[in-house]
Amino acid sequence: MVKPDLSVSVGPLELSNPVMAASGTFGYGLEFEPYLDLEQLGGFVTKGLSPRPRVGNPPVRIVETPSGMLNTIGLQNVGVDAFIEEKLPALRGKKTRVVANVFGETETEYVEVCTKLDAVEGVAGIELNVSCPNVEKGGIIFGSDPSALARITQVCRKATKLPLAVKLSPNVTDIKVMARAAEEAGADILSLINTFVGMAVDVDRRRPVLAKVSGGLSGPAIRPLAVWLTWQTAQAVKIPIIGMGGIVTARDALEFILAGASAVQVGTSNFVHPDAPIRVLDGLRDYLTRNGIASIRELVGTLDATVRT
Ligand SMILES: Cc1cc2nc3c(=O)[nH]c(=O)nc-3n(C[C@H](O)[C@H](O)[C@H](O)COP(=O)(O)O)c2cc1C
Repeated sequence: MVKPDLSVSVGPLELSNPVMAASGTFGYGLEFEPYLDLEQLGGFVTKGLSPRPRVGNPPVRIVETPSGMLNTIGLQNVGVDAFIEEKLPALRGKKTRVVANVFGETETEYVEVCTKLDAVEGVAGIELNVSCPNVEKGGIIFGSDPSALARITQVCRKATKLPLAVKLSPNVTDIKVMARAAEEAGADILSLINTFVGMAVDVDRRRPVLAKVSGGLSGPAIRPLAVWLTWQTAQAVKIPIIGMGGIVTARDALEFILAGASAVQVGTSNFVHPDAPIRVLDGLRDYLTRNGIASIRELVGTLDATVRT
C-alpha cells in the first residue's frame, strides 16, 4: 500500500504534516525531547514571547475542570532575547518548524519582538497572540476589537516577512468579523482558538480558585465550540486556518480538518500525554491508509454541512 502524503501548505508555511503543538503547552520544544522526536512534528509553537522576561501571575494559576482546565499563567516567559540566545541555537538544526508566539503590552512591543525574530535564522513563522485572556494589558484588548486587531496585524506585517498567523479569541460576539479584519490587514494564516474565559469557585473558602479570579478554559470541554468557530471562520475568509481546542485523538483533529482547518495544534492534551501530537499524527496516517486517501489535503474543508430537512 502507498504511504499517504501528510504534507500541507498553510499559506506560506510548509509543514511535513498537519500536526503541531500549541503555544504555552509545549515550552520551547526542547523540554519535550525526552518524550518525542521533535522532527516528527509538523511543527510547534513556542510559549508567548515578550520583549522582556515575565514571571507571570501568582498561584493558584491552574485548576482542573470537567474535561478541561482553567489557567491564568499570565504569559510567563524568558523574553525574546533569551529565546534567541539560549533556545533557538539548539532548535535551529532540527527538521521541524518552529513558530514563535508573540505577545506585547503595546503595539511597539509586538513590533519589537517581531523585528527581532525576523532578523534571526530558525524561525519558520510568527503567531500573534492577540487573544490571551490572562493579562491586564495587551492580549485580548487587541483581539476583541476589529480595528485594534487590524492595526496590530498591519504593524506586525510591516515588521516581518515571515509567515504571519493571527491567533483569534473565542471571547467575541462574532469571530467572522475578527477573522476578516485580520485577513484584510495582511495575515497569512488564522490560528484559532485561544482559551475561553471562565472561573471556578472554592465553595468552602467562598473564594475564586484562581488567584486572578478568572482564567482561560481549554481541553476537550471546549472542542465542540472550537470546531463550530473553525467552521464559521472557514466560511468567512480565504486564508488558511490552523484549528485547535481540545484535540486529543486523530478523530478530533479530523473534525477540525473537515471543518476547514489546513493544520491543527494539540495543546492541553500534552499535559496528559507529552507525546500527544505524535499519537494524533499516527492516527491520521492510519485513517488515510484505511480509507485509501492519498493525501490529507484532500480532506480539508470537505465537510458536507447541508442542512437535512
Ligand atoms: C497553560 C496554558 C498556557 C497557554 N499559553 C499560551 C500562550 O502563551 N500563547 C497563546 O497564544 N496561547 C496560549 N495558550 C492557549 C493554547 O495555545 C490553545 O490555544 C488553547 O489551550 C486551546 O487548545 P487546547 O484545548 O488543545 O489546549 C495556553 C494554554 C494553556 C492551557
